[in-house]
Amino acid sequence: MNLVVLISGTGSNLQAVIDACKAGKIAGRVSAVISNRSDAYGLQRAQAADIPTAVISHQDHPDRAAYDAALMAEIDRHQPDLIVMAGFMRILTPAFVNHYAGRMLNIHPSLLPKHQGLHTHQRALDAGDAEHGASVHFVTEELDGGPVILQAKVPVFAEDTAEDLAQRVHVQEHQIYPLVINWFCQKRLMMKEGKAWLDGECLSVTGYASDDEVEQVD
Ligand code: GAR
Repeated sequence: MNLVVLISGTGSNLQAVIDACKAGKIAGRVSAVISNRSDAYGLQRAQAADIPTAVISHQDHPDRAAYDAALMAEIDRHQPDLIVMAGFMRILTPAFVNHYAGRMLNIHPSLLPKHQGLHTHQRALDAGDAEHGASVHFVTEELDGGPVILQAKVPVFAEDTAEDLAQRVHVQEHQIYPLVINWFCQKRLMMKEGKAWLDGECLSVTGYASDDEVEQVD
């Protein structure tokens, strides 16, 4: 399976995916890494792994539709089976999202549907949440609203800063994203009727093996 990874920054999730491919833990390969920012450190990670990179800057395009069309053209050159958004910090047009329906994943640093959007770690602290985490989901037109596939939870401690929480969540992200990507590559995972399905089972709103699902089984 051909993966194209979209990034905007550090690319630690990209690194986890590259490492998992190398270790044979993902039945696929990263065929390109595309960033909207030329200074994204993840581009260096890709280059170090001999993966082709491209920068499609939003500053070079008059509007969102033109940007997304250029991005789509660059992505499709690589004929990807799956688009992996790994810290890609742009809102996408419906045309873009629909073009990749069912074959685009995102990782979001919260236990969706809680804390969609930005500054999720600070918002979890402000809300007094006892637990926080990350979610991998299919991308749909609704921002951070597509069907959840897998979540990982972390505890929130009284003395935590947003940076402490971000680090704790990152560790979990690096575990769950490669796992989910591999499920897709093995054709065990799909999106159908707006829901995520794994091994023919429709996943609950909080994804695979969530508390909700365990309660249902019990
Ligand atoms: C990750 O924590 C990811 O969940 C988040 O950006 C970070 C990227 O880190 N994504 C979003 O906030 C998307 N809305 P990385 O560049 O080190 O992989």
